[in-house]
Amino acid sequence: MSKVTVVGAGNVGATCANVLVINEVADQIVMLDVKEGVSEGKALDMTQTAALLGFDSTIVGCTNDYAQTADSDVVVITSGIPRKPGMTREELIGVNAGIVKSVAENILKYSPNTIIVVVSNPMDTMTYLALKATGLPKNKIIGMGGALDSARFKCYLSKAMNANPTEIEGMVIGGHGDTTMIPLTRFASYKGRPVSDVLGKEELAKVVADTMVGGATLTGLLGTSAWYAPGAAAAYLVESIIHNQKKIIPCCVSLEGEYGQNDICIGVPCVIGKNGLEEIIDYKLNEEEMALFTKSAAAVRSTNDVLKEINVL
Ligand code: 2OP
Repeated sequence: MSKVTVVGAGNVGATCANVLVINEVADQIVMLDVKEGVSEGKALDMTQTAALLGFDSTIVGCTNDYAQTADSDVVVITSGIPRKPGMTREELIGVNAGIVKSVAENILKYSPNTIIVVVSNPMDTMTYLALKATGLPKNKIIGMGGALDSARFKCYLSKAMNANPTEIEGMVIGGHGDTTMIPLTRFASYKGRPVSDVLGKEELAKVVADTMVGGATLTGLLGTSAWYAPGAAAAYLVESIIHNQKKIIPCCVSLEGEYGQNDICIGVPCVIGKNGLEEIIDYKLNEEEMALFTKSAAAVRSTNDVLKEINVL
């Protein structure tokens, strides 16, 4: 029997859980949320859609009762506050670091062998924190930013090319920040054809710019951060783990020399399967791409340094 826990039943957590349930990704889904009744209510609401949508997965909510999360194969952490218009993801660290650390520790008590998917922002730093706080091996701690940013990249590419987004390949690596993410246009293709054959330089530059502020644009429109694409991106990762799909997904993982980096969690192309991170793929970046990656890593590292300043690490 497969079991997935989603911690945080806010917009992102509940959307992720809903996608997991509707797609029957796992047999059992458990949702937690510190707000009394919210996870129970949303789980019951989703359960009431079974007769309409026809799924066999079960979903329960249990406020803060970590005992009910026992033996989860995967735990998705979405806890914390979202950003408001004008805020960067990095500004959330003061509140979210303490929350993510305590959630990760509680999860481990009942699921010592679980794989953790980190969604909370600032996502790269929260992934690093989860790795350090749990002591789990690096294959079991995966941040989901790259899956989301790549979906946004494909979305804007598909609009620019008037093409089906599922027929587009594209990856965003680096940090999950408005200025740290790196949409890899050189590797993007439409049905095997490089996108640079279809789009001009200016059109591609606009796709890149729109992708990088994809989250900020939504925060401006919604007054809070997005949830449909973030929730679906987390569920996409979970599905590749639970069903051992071995998809190549850009994920935030711990680097030990790959891409010239150490002691950092940042987005790189990964094979995601039943063991979580199964392999980091070494894309041959050119000088310009490598320079962007190095700069992105420096920015992520300076946010990681705040963890020590606020005594969370
Ligand atoms: C986003 O980019 C929530 O960080 C997430 O929408």
